Amino acid sequence: MTAPGGLPQHIAIVMDGNGRWATKRFLPRLAGHRQGMESLRRCIRACLDRGVPVLTVFAFSSENWNRPADEVSGLMELLATALAKEVPQLLKDGVRLHFVGERAGLSDNVRAGLDQAEQATASNSRLVLNVCFNYGGRWDIAQAAARLAAQGQPITELALHQAMAMSHVPDPDLIIRTGGELRLSNFLLWQAAYAELFFSDKLWPDFDEAELDRAIAEFNRRERRYGQTSEQLLPAADERKLA
Ligand code: FPP
Repeated sequence: MTAPGGLPQHIAIVMDGNGRWATKRFLPRLAGHRQGMESLRRCIRACLDRGVPVLTVFAFSSENWNRPADEVSGLMELLATALAKEVPQLLKDGVRLHFVGERAGLSDNVRAGLDQAEQATASNSRLVLNVCFNYGGRWDIAQAAARLAAQGQPITELALHQAMAMSHVPDPDLIIRTGGELRLSNFLLWQAAYAELFFSDKLWPDFDEAELDRAIAEFNRRERRYGQTSEQLLPAADERKLA
């Protein structure tokens, strides 16, 4: 959608800074991820309250397998615990869960948990929550292209878009990254084409409603031109004023 004046219809977040949050407190990194889970819960609530229809979060990247083994297994456990603990409330709140990423490489247990959570929430429509897990933007582009090639289909922009793991939602309007780093780190590479980017210095466990509102307010100050000039956008702006 075109800013200004509206709520982003799809917010995507790189939840960075859990490790630093924990280290600053002399805690193990996993304590930071647990606190990150609390922050995610608060963020989902905030999106529900504000009427944001799609939220996508980066929970585990294709590259995160390279972390120390105990951190990787801790994140897997955190996911399993979160599924058991959070799904009943998400179900009540009208949240539809999608897990986006490569399922191969995950344990049978985790895979079954993801399938169950998706099925249980399939008829919800208040908020679509995409959890990117074992996900990478390059993986998504490559798997979509490989699928089209295997079917002997021409590789066009539209066909690729439709074959991608995020084809069930519109592209993100606003991508937020916490933790002070200014990069995408292989997140939604294809879908980020026209997203507005917001970088927050807050570590993910400290990200709260006020910071979300700051990101939305900043989004509303941006002019989204999609390759056009400001002057070309003026009639659309005038129409909005009249409406
Ligand atoms: C990046 O921070 C964060 C992650 C790799 C994990 C994100 C996970 C959560 C927010 C918890 C929710 C989890 C699930 C499974 C739903 P970092 O560890 O790279 O932080 P650092 O840059 O400070 O080290």
